[in-house]
Amino acid sequence: MIDGALPYLRCPVCEQPLSRAERALRCGRGHSFDIARQGYADLTAGRLPHVGDTAAMVADRVAFLAAGHYDFIADALAAGKPDGLVLDAGTGTGSYLARVLDAAPGATGLGLDVSKPALRRAARAHLRAGAVLADLWRPLPVADAAAELVLNVFAPRNGAEFRRVLRPDGRLLVVTPAAEHLAELVAAYGLIRVDPDKAARVSGALDEHFDLETAVELRRELRLTATEAGTLIGMTPSARHVEPAELPTEAVEVTAAVRLATYRPR
Ligand SMILES: C[S@@+](CC[C@H](N)C(=O)[O-])C[C@H]1O[C@@H](n2cnc3c(N)ncnc32)[C@H](O)[C@@H]1O
Repeated sequence: MIDGALPYLRCPVCEQPLSRAERALRCGRGHSFDIARQGYADLTAGRLPHVGDTAAMVADRVAFLAAGHYDFIADALAAGKPDGLVLDAGTGTGSYLARVLDAAPGATGLGLDVSKPALRRAARAHLRAGAVLADLWRPLPVADAAAELVLNVFAPRNGAEFRRVLRPDGRLLVVTPAAEHLAELVAAYGLIRVDPDKAARVSGALDEHFDLETAVELRRELRLTATEAGTLIGMTPSARHVEPAELPTEAVEVTAAVRLATYRPR
């Protein structure tokens, strides 16, 4: 539901607060933004440089996350108990945001993404979560100091904007793949490798605006059926490079290894 998140949104054109008008959001200066039939609001103001995850990638993400293989990541994200706004930047299907909200009955959620197929899911992910079409590389359609918690899971990071929308006492949780993440699939199917300097690049993008509080590696050995392994490949950016005939035909053991970093604003 977009209504709960409304007090935290701002007009992408003039930065004024937004209010609800039937199937649109409007600011006091008359700028108007559609709410799609599926429930997400389009706050791009017509500026959308790319389309993000495709419908096929989203379908695979839904299936894979529903099977619970990444629940250990969701559990770690849900460990705090925020009662303000939880902003999920690059929310995908909204699955992690929903898990955080389940554990935090007083919190409101807002998921941002550029992918319409993902937002169709995210808009229904949780009763207390709204979903908004927005580009993370542009000024976010979110008020200053609105969020108590910003989540960023396998998605682009805009340090300056995350800092602006975060409360001074808030936290930013960033999940990135560790070096061995999906190593077995990377080796066997030529998936895009995790950049060995990933951790350094992530801190580089955030250092100016945040102090690193903690960083932990979360790791699981996953036993996947051939279908699940194919689904996991399908939700990665490498999906389009793997021919259907090359997909796994047998069960596989796969390492899931991610880094969860907690940042506080400077
Ligand atoms: C790997 S998926 C992760 C989704 C979700 N956080 C999860 O882990 O299930 C990356 C997401 O970031 C979105 N994305 C990519 N570039 C973006 C941008 N510039 N602005 C907003 N979202 C973007 C994609 O559409 C996709 O949903």
